[in-house]
Amino acid sequence: MDHSSAKYLLAGSPSEFERLRLQARVWEPEAEAMLDQIGIQAGWSCIDLGCGAMGILDPLSRRVGTSGRVIGVDNDHRQLAAARAFVQELGRNNIELVEQDAYQTDFPRGVFDFVHVRFVFAPVGRDEELLREMIALTRPGGIVAIQEPDATCWNCFPQHQAWDRLKQAILAAFEQGGGDFNAGQRTYGMLRKAGLEDVHIRAAVIALQNQHPYMRLPIQFATSLRQRILGAALLTEEELDASLAACEQLASHPETSVLTFLHTSSLGTQVALHYAPIALKHDVWMVVLTCAVAGTLLAGLWRSEGQEGWFAR
Ligand SMILES: C[S@@+](CC[C@H](N)C(=O)[O-])C[C@H]1O[C@@H](n2cnc3c(N)ncnc32)[C@H](O)[C@@H]1O
Repeated sequence: MDHSSAKYLLAGSPSEFERLRLQARVWEPEAEAMLDQIGIQAGWSCIDLGCGAMGILDPLSRRVGTSGRVIGVDNDHRQLAAARAFVQELGRNNIELVEQDAYQTDFPRGVFDFVHVRFVFAPVGRDEELLREMIALTRPGGIVAIQEPDATCWNCFPQHQAWDRLKQAILAAFEQGGGDFNAGQRTYGMLRKAGLEDVHIRAAVIALQNQHPYMRLPIQFATSLRQRILGAALLTEEELDASLAACEQLASHPETSVLTFLHTSSLGTQVALHYAPIALKHDVWMVVLTCAVAGTLLAGLWRSEGQEGWFAR
């Protein structure tokens, strides 16, 4: 299957870079709060899968310090070029940017202290595959963190038909592309089901006002998804353009306020050393099994050589 960046439903438009940078800034306090809660240590090895143009590279890099390491992975070289420029601006040398498929990386298994994904399950989907990779990369006792949206409370006030129309078209376009905008509703359950320990979830919503640029999020999404929305006849061209224009007016009106989508962060700890006895027991069983097979072979030889034959030599 081709998992190249061309398959990513929001890939590569200029409005997508702009959106990701703004989004990373808006959610940075929530990223900081989550990282504080985890207690990221200096010297840790961290990986941000699908890091895009910024991800949470900056807050991670500050926490792990010069003795630590942050790897940002993305499969879109344009996103990585934007991320490289950003890292250069920051002047950090503990961040590496790598072009790879986040769902199947080449990194060594079980060595990272912290493995993070934000806003990749929602647009791309394939939950099991991505979660399997995250868990495989995490060392015993290390932390897996997934940050994804839930559209339930995403709304503008006063409410407006154009906003609802764009929102519904965006949610449907995500679904048609194999994703699910409401991925944030599932991540807690996914981590529990995968057997991680100490699983918990936090959630945040931001009230936007005073023509905050992030109020334009539905416009940015719908612009990136234009071909998909029209191709799947989710809206006609006239409906889409009229909704975009109405939402522009809403976003620039001083009396409009907006609630962001619910931003969820689900965290879990990779099972630690108490699984070692099972591995030990497994080794013991291997020795017993090997002895049993060897014993059976020897007994067979003895029988075929005759009672006195082989052993009498
Ligand atoms: C919505 S953006 C989120 C970016 C970043 N995590 C953030 O929160 O700002 C999704 C990112 O995932 C990347 N992506 C999608 N599919 C991928 C894959 N299979 N492997 C690596 N990156 C992928 C996209 O190129 C894009 O940069």
